[in-house]
Amino acid sequence: MTPSPMPAATPAPAHYDRMTITLHWLTAVLVVGLFALAEIWSFLPRGTPTRKLLQSLHISFGLAFAAVFVVRVVWRLSRGRRLPRAASGLLGVASTGVHGLLYLLMATQIVLGFLFRWAQGEPFAFFGLFNVPTLIAIDHEQRRFIGGLHDTVAWIIIVLALLHALAALFHHYFLRDGVLRRMLSSR
Ligand code: HEM
Ligand code: HEM
Repeated sequence: MTPSPMPAATPAPAHYDRMTITLHWLTAVLVVGLFALAEIWSFLPRGTPTRKLLQSLHISFGLAFAAVFVVRVVWRLSRGRRLPRAASGLLGVASTGVHGLLYLLMATQIVLGFLFRWAQGEPFAFFGLFNVPTLIAIDHEQRRFIGGLHDTVAWIIIVLALLHALAALFHHYFLRDGVLRRMLSSR
């Protein structure tokens, strides 16, 4: 009697799922957009309508970013597809470390953003649709300190994200191992 064939092992998925991909690129656009808005308004004189408009856009998109971040973390912890590390050894550990650090810094930045606005004591509106209530009363004097931290964390995120993007491009153009492709298409 011929032995029955072993059931074929399910191959590891070669791509992230569509939801993970959408959330990743939405995060990337929001982080870069939020940073760009703040850098642009820093060149405008204080109190001008354009500067105020950019600040209110930053706050509204900041709230959208906070929502996207929560959905992303919940998705990753529940149904999001996990793939094996793209690199082995120390490089693999480093890339996982950078990903973890980016998640941690984004969470910190969201908390600082909320605290900053509450310390400023000004309206905290989402595209004029509703106001976020003040959940924690923060001393107005703390606004400069919190703002300084928010600014520092912004720069750390941008530098890390840039290194992370360069690593992805290195995989794509030099190693040609499909790491970028697995974050571009779910098929
Ligand atoms: C501000 C911008 C960005 C942030 C905050 C960010 C954040 C992250 C995080 C946290 C992960 C880990 C996903 C997980 O395992 O849960 C990830 C994965 C990934 N990112 Fe980004 N990213 C950004 C921009 C970019 C850009 C511009 C590129 C490409 C040029 C890129 C390419 C990738 C790739 C290919 C992966 C998957 C890596 C793998 O499969 O090991 N990211 N990103
Ligand atoms: C990764 C995401 C974010 C980045 C890169 C970022 C970046 C920045 C930067 C560079 C500034 C200027 C700081 C200064 O010069 O003192 C700023 C200001 C500010 N950010 Fe963010 N931010 C982010 C997310 C958020 C979030 C989620 C919120 C809250 C919903 C927020 C609320 C604010 C507020 C209230 C200000 C001050 C606006 C004003 O002066 O009227 N930010 N942000």
